[in-house]
Amino acid sequence: MDLYLDTAEVSEIRELAAWGVLSGVTTNPSLVAKSGRSQAEVIQEITSIVPGPISAEVLSTEPQGMIAEGRKLAKIADNVVVKVPLIPSGLEACSVLASEGVNVNVTLCFSANQAILAAQAGAWCVSPFIGRLDDINEDGMQTVRDIVEVYRVQGYATRVLAASIRHSNHVTQAALAGADIATMPAKVLRMMVKHPLTEQGLEKFLADYRKSQEEAEA
Ligand code: E4P
Repeated sequence: MDLYLDTAEVSEIRELAAWGVLSGVTTNPSLVAKSGRSQAEVIQEITSIVPGPISAEVLSTEPQGMIAEGRKLAKIADNVVVKVPLIPSGLEACSVLASEGVNVNVTLCFSANQAILAAQAGAWCVSPFIGRLDDINEDGMQTVRDIVEVYRVQGYATRVLAASIRHSNHVTQAALAGADIATMPAKVLRMMVKHPLTEQGLEKFLADYRKSQEEAEA
Protein backbone atom coordinates (compact mmCIF):
# COMPACT_ATOMS: atom_id res chain seq x y z
CA MET A 1 0.00 0.00 0.00
CA ASP A 2 1.38 3.42 -0.97
CA LEU A 3 1.46 6.16 1.67
CA TYR A 4 0.47 9.72 0.77
CA LEU A 5 0.41 12.89 2.86
CA ASP A 6 -2.92 14.72 2.96
CA THR A 7 -1.76 18.33 3.29
CA ALA A 8 -0.88 21.49 1.42
CA GLU A 9 1.79 22.53 3.96
CA VAL A 10 5.01 22.47 1.98
CA SER A 11 7.31 22.52 5.04
CA GLU A 12 5.83 19.30 6.46
CA ILE A 13 5.86 17.63 3.03
CA ARG A 14 9.56 18.51 2.69
CA GLU A 15 10.36 17.21 6.19
CA LEU A 16 8.45 13.93 5.88
CA ALA A 17 9.47 13.24 2.26
CA ALA A 18 13.00 12.85 3.65
CA TRP A 19 11.91 9.59 5.38
CA GLY A 20 11.68 8.00 1.93
CA VAL A 21 8.26 6.41 2.59
CA LEU A 22 6.00 8.85 0.74
CA SER A 23 4.66 7.99 -2.70
CA GLY A 24 2.39 11.02 -3.24
CA VAL A 25 0.33 13.86 -1.79
CA THR A 26 -3.38 14.72 -1.76
CA THR A 27 -4.79 18.19 -1.25
CA ASN A 28 -8.33 19.56 -1.14
CA PRO A 29 -9.71 23.12 -1.24
CA SER A 30 -9.87 23.32 2.59
CA LEU A 31 -6.22 22.26 2.92
CA VAL A 32 -5.09 24.74 0.23
CA ALA A 33 -7.09 27.50 1.96
CA LYS A 34 -5.34 26.63 5.25
CA SER A 35 -1.93 27.04 3.57
CA GLY A 36 -2.86 30.63 2.70
CA ARG A 37 -1.44 30.25 -0.82
CA SER A 38 -2.92 29.99 -4.31
CA GLN A 39 -3.67 26.47 -5.53
CA ALA A 40 -1.48 26.79 -8.66
CA GLU A 41 1.51 28.00 -6.64
CA VAL A 42 1.25 25.39 -3.90
CA ILE A 43 0.64 22.47 -6.30
CA GLN A 44 3.58 23.54 -8.45
CA GLU A 45 5.86 23.50 -5.40
CA ILE A 46 4.58 20.14 -4.10
CA THR A 47 5.10 18.51 -7.51
CA SER A 48 8.74 19.59 -7.38
CA ILE A 49 9.25 17.99 -3.93
CA VAL A 50 7.44 14.65 -4.37
CA PRO A 51 7.81 12.92 -7.75
CA GLY A 52 4.69 10.74 -7.27
CA PRO A 53 1.01 11.57 -7.88
CA ILE A 54 -0.15 14.93 -6.44
CA SER A 55 -3.93 15.42 -6.27
CA ALA A 56 -5.32 18.92 -6.93
CA GLU A 57 -9.07 19.47 -6.74
CA VAL A 58 -11.24 21.47 -9.16
CA LEU A 59 -13.47 24.19 -7.68
CA SER A 60 -16.18 24.36 -10.35
CA THR A 61 -19.31 22.27 -9.93
CA GLU A 62 -20.52 22.21 -13.53
CA PRO A 63 -18.94 19.89 -16.13
CA GLN A 64 -17.41 22.41 -18.56
CA GLY A 65 -15.83 24.39 -15.74
CA MET A 66 -14.46 21.21 -14.14
CA ILE A 67 -13.02 20.04 -17.45
CA ALA A 68 -11.37 23.40 -18.18
CA GLU A 69 -9.93 23.57 -14.64
CA GLY A 70 -8.80 19.95 -14.81
CA ARG A 71 -6.92 20.56 -18.07
CA LYS A 72 -5.24 23.61 -16.52
CA LEU A 73 -4.26 21.74 -13.33
CA ALA A 74 -2.91 18.80 -15.36
CA LYS A 75 -0.59 21.21 -17.21
CA ILE A 76 1.14 22.28 -13.98
CA ALA A 77 3.24 19.09 -13.96
CA ASP A 78 3.16 15.53 -15.31
CA ASN A 79 2.49 14.11 -11.83
CA VAL A 80 -0.71 16.11 -11.16
CA VAL A 81 -3.83 14.01 -10.57
CA VAL A 82 -7.04 16.02 -11.05
CA LYS A 83 -9.53 15.58 -8.23
CA VAL A 84 -13.26 15.84 -8.93
CA PRO A 85 -16.15 15.31 -6.51
CA LEU A 86 -18.41 12.28 -6.86
CA ILE A 87 -21.42 14.13 -8.29
CA PRO A 88 -22.95 13.72 -11.79
CA SER A 89 -20.93 16.62 -13.25
CA GLY A 90 -17.80 15.16 -11.63
CA LEU A 91 -18.38 11.83 -13.37
CA GLU A 92 -18.87 13.64 -16.68
CA ALA A 93 -15.65 15.63 -16.18
CA CYS A 94 -13.84 12.45 -15.12
CA SER A 95 -14.80 10.55 -18.27
CA VAL A 96 -13.75 13.44 -20.56
CA LEU A 97 -10.45 14.09 -18.73
CA ALA A 98 -9.66 10.35 -18.52
CA SER A 99 -10.26 9.98 -22.27
CA GLU A 100 -7.65 12.72 -22.77
CA GLY A 101 -5.12 10.78 -20.70
CA VAL A 102 -5.48 12.85 -17.49
CA ASN A 103 -5.33 10.85 -14.22
CA VAL A 104 -8.44 11.59 -12.16
CA ASN A 105 -9.05 11.06 -8.44
CA VAL A 106 -12.81 10.88 -7.79
CA THR A 107 -13.20 12.17 -4.26
CA LEU A 108 -15.90 12.42 -1.58
CA CYS A 109 -16.85 8.77 -2.09
CA PHE A 110 -19.02 7.28 0.66
CA SER A 111 -20.38 4.05 -0.85
CA ALA A 112 -19.54 1.08 -3.08
CA ASN A 113 -22.23 2.24 -5.52
CA GLN A 114 -20.48 5.57 -5.96
CA ALA A 115 -17.13 3.76 -6.37
CA ILE A 116 -18.58 1.65 -9.21
CA LEU A 117 -19.58 4.87 -11.00
CA ALA A 118 -16.08 6.32 -10.54
CA ALA A 119 -14.51 3.18 -12.03
CA GLN A 120 -16.94 3.21 -14.97
CA ALA A 121 -16.03 6.86 -15.61
CA GLY A 122 -12.37 5.84 -15.96
CA ALA A 123 -11.05 7.21 -12.66
CA TRP A 124 -7.38 6.60 -11.90
CA CYS A 125 -8.37 6.31 -8.24
CA VAL A 126 -11.39 6.68 -5.99
CA SER A 127 -11.23 8.19 -2.50
CA PRO A 128 -13.56 6.69 0.13
CA PHE A 129 -13.60 8.91 3.25
CA ILE A 130 -13.26 6.66 6.30
CA GLY A 131 -13.26 9.18 9.15
CA ARG A 132 -16.27 11.13 7.90
CA LEU A 133 -18.32 7.89 7.69
CA ASP A 134 -17.20 6.91 11.20
CA ASP A 135 -18.27 10.40 12.37
CA ILE A 136 -21.88 9.66 11.42
CA ASN A 137 -21.84 6.22 13.07
CA GLU A 138 -21.24 4.30 9.84
CA ASP A 139 -18.35 1.88 9.29
CA GLY A 140 -15.89 3.69 7.02
CA MET A 141 -13.49 0.75 6.87
CA GLN A 142 -16.26 -1.62 5.80
CA THR A 143 -16.92 0.70 2.84
CA VAL A 144 -13.24 0.43 1.89
CA ARG A 145 -13.42 -3.40 2.16
CA ASP A 146 -16.56 -3.45 -0.02
CA ILE A 147 -14.99 -1.25 -2.70
CA VAL A 148 -11.77 -3.31 -2.76
CA GLU A 149 -13.83 -6.49 -3.16
CA VAL A 150 -16.11 -5.06 -5.87
CA TYR A 151 -13.10 -3.82 -7.84
CA ARG A 152 -11.38 -7.22 -7.46
CA VAL A 153 -14.45 -9.21 -8.54
CA GLN A 154 -15.14 -6.88 -11.46
CA GLY A 155 -11.51 -6.46 -12.50
CA TYR A 156 -11.60 -2.64 -12.34
CA ALA A 157 -8.15 -1.03 -12.62
CA THR A 158 -9.19 2.04 -10.57
CA ARG A 159 -7.10 2.27 -7.40
CA VAL A 160 -8.69 2.53 -3.95
CA LEU A 161 -7.28 5.49 -2.03
CA ALA A 162 -8.31 5.32 1.64
CA ALA A 163 -8.88 8.93 2.74
CA SER A 164 -10.11 10.87 5.77
CA ILE A 165 -7.75 8.83 7.93
CA ARG A 166 -7.78 10.03 11.53
CA HIS A 167 -5.33 7.73 13.37
CA SER A 168 -2.64 5.13 12.83
CA ASN A 169 -4.97 2.15 13.30
CA HIS A 170 -6.95 3.37 10.26
CA VAL A 171 -3.73 2.89 8.25
CA THR A 172 -3.25 -0.71 9.43
CA GLN A 173 -6.91 -1.53 8.77
CA ALA A 174 -6.81 0.09 5.31
CA ALA A 175 -3.75 -2.02 4.45
CA LEU A 176 -5.51 -5.19 5.68
CA ALA A 177 -8.59 -4.23 3.64
CA GLY A 178 -6.43 -4.17 0.51
CA ALA A 179 -6.47 -0.41 -0.20
CA ASP A 180 -3.88 0.57 -2.82
CA ILE A 181 -3.10 3.91 -1.20
CA ALA A 182 -3.69 5.54 2.19
CA THR A 183 -3.53 9.33 2.52
CA MET A 184 -3.08 10.85 5.96
CA PRO A 185 -2.26 14.06 7.82
CA ALA A 186 1.38 14.51 8.92
CA LYS A 187 0.46 13.78 12.55
CA VAL A 188 -0.77 10.26 11.61
CA LEU A 189 2.45 9.47 9.72
CA ARG A 190 4.38 10.62 12.80
CA MET A 191 2.18 8.35 15.01
CA MET A 192 3.00 5.37 12.77
CA VAL A 193 6.70 5.44 13.58
CA LYS A 194 6.24 5.72 17.32
CA HIS A 195 6.35 2.78 19.73
CA PRO A 196 7.33 3.08 23.41
CA LEU A 197 9.35 -0.16 23.26
CA THR A 198 11.41 1.21 20.36
CA GLU A 199 12.22 4.35 22.36
CA GLN A 200 12.95 2.41 25.59
CA GLY A 201 14.98 -0.20 23.69
CA LEU A 202 17.16 2.40 21.98
CA GLU A 203 17.71 4.29 25.23
CA LYS A 204 18.87 1.05 26.92
CA PHE A 205 21.17 0.01 24.02
CA LEU A 206 22.90 3.38 24.06
CA ALA A 207 23.11 3.53 27.87
CA ASP A 208 24.61 0.00 28.03
CA TYR A 209 27.20 0.87 25.41
CA ARG A 210 28.13 4.17 27.11
CA LYS A 211 28.47 2.35 30.46
CA SER A 212 30.77 -0.32 29.01
CA GLN A 213 32.97 2.38 27.44
CA GLU A 214 33.19 4.29 30.72
CA GLU A 215 34.11 1.06 32.56
CA ALA A 216 36.76 0.22 29.96
CA GLU A 217 38.28 3.69 30.31
CA ALA A 218 38.26 3.62 34.14
C1 E4P B 1 -8.71 13.21 0.75
O1 E4P B 1 -8.16 13.34 -0.31
C2 E4P B 1 -9.17 14.33 1.61
O2 E4P B 1 -8.34 15.43 1.39
C3 E4P B 1 -9.06 14.03 3.09
O3 E4P B 1 -8.57 12.74 3.34
C4 E4P B 1 -10.22 14.48 3.90
O4 E4P B 1 -10.01 14.14 5.24
P1 E4P B 1 -10.83 14.79 6.45
O5 E4P B 1 -12.15 14.09 6.53
O6 E4P B 1 -9.99 14.52 7.66
O7 E4P B 1 -10.96 16.26 6.14
